[in-house]
Amino acid sequence: MSIQPVSMSSKSRADRAKLILNGVSKRFGNGADAVQALEPVDLVVENGDFVCIVGPSGCGKSTLLSIVAGFETPSSGSAILDGKKILAPGAERGVVFQQGALFNWMTVRDNVAFGPQAMGKSREASLSVAARYLELVGLTSFSHRYPYELSGGMQQRVAIARALANEPEILLMDEPFAALDYQTRELLQEEIHSIWKRTASTVLWITHSIDEALVLATHIVVMSARPGRIKATFESDFSKNTDPMLTTTVEFADAKRQIVALLRQESIEAQRQEINL
Ligand SMILES: Nc1ncnc2c1ncn2[C@@H]1O[C@H](COP(=O)(O)OP(=O)(O)OP(=O)(O)O)[C@@H](O)[C@H]1O
Ligand SMILES: [Mg+2]
Repeated sequence: MSIQPVSMSSKSRADRAKLILNGVSKRFGNGADAVQALEPVDLVVENGDFVCIVGPSGCGKSTLLSIVAGFETPSSGSAILDGKKILAPGAERGVVFQQGALFNWMTVRDNVAFGPQAMGKSREASLSVAARYLELVGLTSFSHRYPYELSGGMQQRVAIARALANEPEILLMDEPFAALDYQTRELLQEEIHSIWKRTASTVLWITHSIDEALVLATHIVVMSARPGRIKATFESDFSKNTDPMLTTTVEFADAKRQIVALLRQESIEAQRQEINL
C-alpha cells in the first residue's frame, strides 16, 4: 500500500472523464480589493474516483467546489460534467457544505424526502427513501423534529442524508464531518465508503484531515496556499484496505508524512499571508 504521484490533468484520463476542470480560476471583486482565490486549475476526475482535496485554510477549496456545484461561475476556464458545461446547480450533483444548509421550515424527514419528491417520486416512496438514509446517519428518532432543534453535528448528518437521498451522479462534500465527534466521524466514513463502493458513484471531498483523505480516497489532490493551485496529485490504494488497524501501519505513516511535508510549507505560507493582510 502506498501513495504514488500521478498526473490528473492528462489527456489519457479525459477519455474516461466524469468531471473536467479546464483552466478554472476565480477572482473575487475588482481593483485593489480583488482576491485571486484560485489560479487556473486543471483536473480530470474519472467515473468512480473518490478524490480528496487537502490544502491550507483560504486556498480556494470551497470556491472550487462551489464552481463544480454551479453556485459560482469561474473567472476563466470551464468545468464540464459528463460532457456538459456547468452553468447552474443540478440534481445530479449532491452537495454538502461546511455548514449544512437545511430548510428550517421543514421537518428533518421532509428535508431528506425533498429531493426524491422533486425528482418525481411519490410522497410515499420519497418518505421511505428518507427513512432509509436517516437510519443510515442514526437520526430515525429525530425524523419529526425541525433542524433548529438539532445540534450542529446532527444537522450535518441530515445534510449528508439529504445529499445521498438524491442518489447523485457526483457527490460534492466540503468538510462534511468537520463538526462531528471522532466516533460518529469514523462510522459515517465507513458508511460513505460502502455507499460509494455499492453505487460506483464519483466523489469530490474536501477535508483538513489527512487520515480521512488516506482512508477514503482513490486520489488525493494537495493544494497550495492562496491563490490556490494544485501542488501535487497522488493515486492511493489505502482505501481498498479494510484492516481496522490500517492507520497504525508503517505504510500509512509514510504516506501521511509525505502529505504533511507538502502541506506544512503551504500552511506557513498561508499564515504569512494572513499576517501581511
Ligand atoms: N464570495 C466571496 N467574496 C470574496 N472573497 C471570497 C468569497 N468566497 C471566498 N473568498 C475568498 O477566496 C479565498 C478562498 O476561500 P475559500 O472559502 O475557497 O477557501 P477554503 O480553502 O475553502 O478555506 P477553508 O479551509 O478555511 O474552508 C479566501 O481568501 C476568501 O476570503
Ligand atoms: Mg472551505
